[in-house]
Amino acid sequence: MGTDKQATWGGRFTGGPSERMQAFSESVSFDAELAPFDIIGSRAQAAMLESIGILTAEERAAIDAGLVTIGEEISAGEFTWDPVFEDVHMNIEQALSARVPAAAKLHTARSRNDQVATDVRLYLRWAADEIDRSLAGVLASLVDLAEKHVELLVPGYTHLQRGQPVSVAHHLLAYVEMFGRDRERFALFRERINVCPLGSGALAGTTLPIDREFVAKELGFVDEAGEPRLTENSLDAVSDRDAPLEFCFNAALSGLHLSRFAEDFILWNSSEFGFVALPDAYTTGSSLMPQKKNPDALELIRGKAARLQGNLVTLQSMVKNLPLTYNRDLQEDKPPLFDSFRTLRDCLDVLADLVPGIEFRPARCESAVSDPLLLATDLADYLVEQGVPFRQAHHQVGALVGLSEKLDTPINELPEGEARAAAEGLSDGWREVFDLTRAMDRRSGPGMPGPVPVRKSLARWKSRLAKES
Ligand code: ARG
Repeated sequence: MGTDKQATWGGRFTGGPSERMQAFSESVSFDAELAPFDIIGSRAQAAMLESIGILTAEERAAIDAGLVTIGEEISAGEFTWDPVFEDVHMNIEQALSARVPAAAKLHTARSRNDQVATDVRLYLRWAADEIDRSLAGVLASLVDLAEKHVELLVPGYTHLQRGQPVSVAHHLLAYVEMFGRDRERFALFRERINVCPLGSGALAGTTLPIDREFVAKELGFVDEAGEPRLTENSLDAVSDRDAPLEFCFNAALSGLHLSRFAEDFILWNSSEFGFVALPDAYTTGSSLMPQKKNPDALELIRGKAARLQGNLVTLQSMVKNLPLTYNRDLQEDKPPLFDSFRTLRDCLDVLADLVPGIEFRPARCESAVSDPLLLATDLADYLVEQGVPFRQAHHQVGALVGLSEKLDTPINELPEGEARAAAEGLSDGWREVFDLTRAMDRRSGPGMPGPVPVRKSLARWKSRLAKES
């Protein structure tokens, strides 16, 4: 059983698609998200058609007013989407045709193939701006928290084994760098995709004298000088999905950063580490174990980051092996794309809100970082300063570590005679190496965790963020 309500492309058909096919092929249930961008694109198209004499001024005005009204109905939730009309483009066109006779001319020299490519770029420009705002929120909250903890030290880990001391600020600023790069990546992406595909037609342009530059300018697809930026090849313009792919890649990478942050703080919040207490607002209790306070928000961020990876792989798999140009497979780009946008924005906004509520537990941090073995490397550096070649210095300190284990005595409290016998490079004052304040002050080079470079880095980030607000 079919329906012949589908009249847009129905000319060469005697029967309509089966109901099963309609339900299978509709995309309006998800691509209605593009409606505001579809309307902006159609208004620009109508303006251009008027400028080349295909629409009269009255026709264009009627189309424009009709599109504005439809847009208002959609945002008010009063518009009826009909899956019979397949997608967002046909639904809006049908609604417009029912009200404005000239709507029959709107699709002149346009295909849904260049239309959807245009809509998606407009959407992605908006989405990149939204993500930028959310990333800025995360950066601001991390910088604020870091500023409070320049002096507080924790062990830095490799292999999840205690390595060397770092400040909490330095640890937080590592994530500031990651999210800062994410912002740059989204900004470059926005720049790269800001090119107009409209006018590419179904795949090979049009024989009509359209004005692509006009449309591009109307839609803000312009360079810094205001010059229109047009896609250079119609086949590429309608079939490439680099823009959604790149967005999903950027989102996936940002998701990795989110996930690693979540994992660090889940660990630090555990009883075993106990470096932080997470805010009640972003933790939950157990239905069975009364004592539990679970880091669910961070676990969800870690879990949702998996979706971001998956969405990227979905798009990559979809495009691989598709012959040029448009194939209906490409309709499947939208659910993962929209999901990546929403998921990333939600995770970032939750994190920005959660971070200010993180409380550090100084006593637990201090007790962990007081492990003198965290400064074993500093002792090797000390030996180097005494003229011992680093490989030998490393070996001598290793012997001291072994001795400390054997005697069950902290390395900095080993008896002088036995220590000197194990490490002949030692001379007076070697125990001063284990003064943490001194050790941190000496880490004063660019990018290091000492208070001086960390304060510099904080100041740099604060002035960058302040410039924007
Ligand atoms: N809904 C379609 C999509 O997103 C629009 C393009 C349809 N083009 C076509 N030739 N059937 O891919």
